[in-house]
Amino acid sequence: MLVHEPYTNDKAMYKVLEEAYYDGKVKAIGLSNYNQRRFEQFIHSSNIVPTVNQVECHLHFQKWDLQQTLKEHGTVMQAWSPLAQGKIQFEQQPELVQLSEKYGKSPAQIVLRFLTQRGVSVVPKTSRVERLAENIDIFDFCLTNFEMDMLKKLDKGKTLFSWTETL
Ligand SMILES: NC(=O)c1ccc[n+]([C@@H]2O[C@H](COP(=O)([O-])OP(=O)(O)OC[C@H]3O[C@@H](n4cnc5c(N)ncnc54)[C@H](OP(=O)(O)O)[C@@H]3O)[C@@H](O)[C@H]2O)c1
Repeated sequence: MLVHEPYTNDKAMYKVLEEAYYDGKVKAIGLSNYNQRRFEQFIHSSNIVPTVNQVECHLHFQKWDLQQTLKEHGTVMQAWSPLAQGKIQFEQQPELVQLSEKYGKSPAQIVLRFLTQRGVSVVPKTSRVERLAENIDIFDFCLTNFEMDMLKKLDKGKTLFSWTETL
């Protein structure tokens, strides 16, 4: 269970989640949409380290610095919109097409593998059963360090979702 975003009463809300955790009502608690500054402010007042911080993270907004900060505190970065909600045309990214052909995987699988291989948890959404299977079938190959670096260079460091800019 996650606190969806920073807000006035988020610390009080997290206390309630902590109680639910201590009572065994939930298995894990965490945060969502906390940037580095807000995350570091927040955890000073919490007893339980957030299991995850679920944030926008995809090929064009990779958030390596935030991941490092979270890691130092024992929190996993979890990607919402790991496939950028379809806003990135994967077939038009030569690097993805190249890796897709090399590994016999779809561009979406390459992206999900890239994220998970760097230690980011992913929650891709699909309405198609065949894509559910496709999106989990990413653990039988490994990108090389060179290929990871190649995909890292596609980071634009900018959100694709303007509503997050006010968080
Ligand atoms: N915490 C937050 O603030 C926050 C914000 C936004 C989203 N989320 C959560 O993040 C999760 C991810 O959902 P999302 O919709 O935002 O983003 P997403 O998973 O990046 O993108 C979903 C889109 O990708 C398509 N897709 C899925 N698998 C594909 C594949 N293998 N190949 C090509 N296209 C594929 C889907 O189309 P089809 O359905 O046609 O397959 C859908 O249009 C959801 O659980 C959502 O609730 C959380």
